[in-house]
Amino acid sequence: MLKNQNENVTKILVSQEEIEQITSRLAAQISKDYENDPRQVVLLIILKGSVPFAADLMRKLTIPVQLEFMKVSSYGASTKSSGEIKIHLDLNRNDLENLDIIIIEDIIDTGRTLNRLTQLLKNRNAHSVKTCTMLDKPSRREVDFTPDYVGVQIPDEFVVGFGLDYNEEYRSLPYVGVLDPKQYAHPNEL
Ligand code: PRP
Repeated sequence: MLKNQNENVTKILVSQEEIEQITSRLAAQISKDYENDPRQVVLLIILKGSVPFAADLMRKLTIPVQLEFMKVSSYGASTKSSGEIKIHLDLNRNDLENLDIIIIEDIIDTGRTLNRLTQLLKNRNAHSVKTCTMLDKPSRREVDFTPDYVGVQIPDEFVVGFGLDYNEEYRSLPYVGVLDPKQYAHPNEL
């Protein structure tokens, strides 16, 4: 258990002020895009990392939304299960054809998770599926996937905070920071 999480962060990549601006901008954009939507809009929050982002974003929306949660993980390209998504907690609704879903993510890396999840929900006949991510690492993309709403693009650094973890630590930091490589690199790799 860590005593002082801030000490292991070498650089603040997205500050609290920037997060505030990002969530205001995205909430205004989403509210405008869906203001005349006759259907139910659902924020589908992907556990665990997107919880702080979703909490900030939803409180700035001026449209009514419902909340749902899923916990998923994707298999890497090297495994036999490539093309599959593992569902740890599923969405329990039987009215998907009437819903306009916005998937809320903290980060897109390879793009595999959102690519497969979007496809899954479309296969289940959701009326529409869009994606909103706070962080995007386009340089890491392994599948062709473009999110609809992006907070900020970031370089390929190991980031923690504002929902993002390393071994389940650091999620509660109020900003996104770069983790000191000493915290995760093998001694021989330093
Ligand atoms: C992270 C993130 C996405 C996924 C993105 O979740 O929240 O779901 O990885 O990676 P991809 O674009 O390469 O598919 P993670 O599995 O770390 O779970 P967590 O949010 O519970 O930490």
